[in-house]
Amino acid sequence: MNTIFLDAPIDDNKRRELLYRGQLLVYSPTPSSLKLVNFARQMAEEALQPYEPETAQHHLPVERYASILAELKPKFIHHPISKECIQSIFRELGVDPHKTFFDVPRMRTSTSDDYLKTGIAYAFHPHRDTWYSAPMCQINWWMPIYSIVPENAMAFHPRYWSQPVRNGSAEYNYAEWNRTSRQNAAQFVKEDTRKQPKPEEPMELDPHIRVIAPPGGILLFSGAQMHSSVPNNSGRTRFSIDFRTVNIDDIAARRGAPNVDSACTGTTMGDYLRGTDLAHVPEEYYPLYETQPAFAKPEEFETATSA
Ligand SMILES: [Fe+2]
Repeated sequence: MNTIFLDAPIDDNKRRELLYRGQLLVYSPTPSSLKLVNFARQMAEEALQPYEPETAQHHLPVERYASILAELKPKFIHHPISKECIQSIFRELGVDPHKTFFDVPRMRTSTSDDYLKTGIAYAFHPHRDTWYSAPMCQINWWMPIYSIVPENAMAFHPRYWSQPVRNGSAEYNYAEWNRTSRQNAAQFVKEDTRKQPKPEEPMELDPHIRVIAPPGGILLFSGAQMHSSVPNNSGRTRFSIDFRTVNIDDIAARRGAPNVDSACTGTTMGDYLRGTDLAHVPEEYYPLYETQPAFAKPEEFETATSA
């Protein structure tokens, strides 16, 4: 990874190729990303009134705050407007909705000063989504709902694009996780005891990169990219939206980012919905993704990362 592309005038095939090489792509807000952000704001404002969403944490007991989020987040995720906005964002950015499948958009919060960082507002340690059964062709889309600053942004750790980290992904199975842990997020207010793949050796997190886009600005990165939540000490809760996409041609060809260290089993392939009619990815592909591909050899990796 060595480049951040801003509003790159390229087609979607080229875009995915760059992402699979570890590059970051950033797009200015589009009419539909702004619509999605405004919709999220409206929902958050209603749920947290009379307080402003970014500072409500300073006025509410943490249990109350967690229970409001536990109601707000699923409402946003499952609302038809959220899905419609994603479909329109595809049109605006030249993403083929016939070939592209997305999972429902999540609203995330990162509260300030260690107020709530478990369960419903889990603070993410450095990780790759591919440690959690995401396919190597998964692309993450991320946008801030309110203005962000470096103190409450997300961080990328570029050296780990090609450098493996000892991690707990071998013990993670997506189907198993869904069965046992997922529904319970809101109950983990003080401490999160659910087992998540984590780095199992010290990492060098500096230097790292924080991308500050305006509300509705879209940040695209590979699911294999090492990223984390910056410990938020901005005094304001960060609200963001993210969703993930996969392209059916890449699924069929098993194209994607090189696998450096993900050893999980199970697959999120059943979660994505087609951009046109919300149909699932055909099941015939799931067995191909029950395990992650073999780790990339250094020489393959050189080809995969050279621009
Ligand atoms: Fe992530």
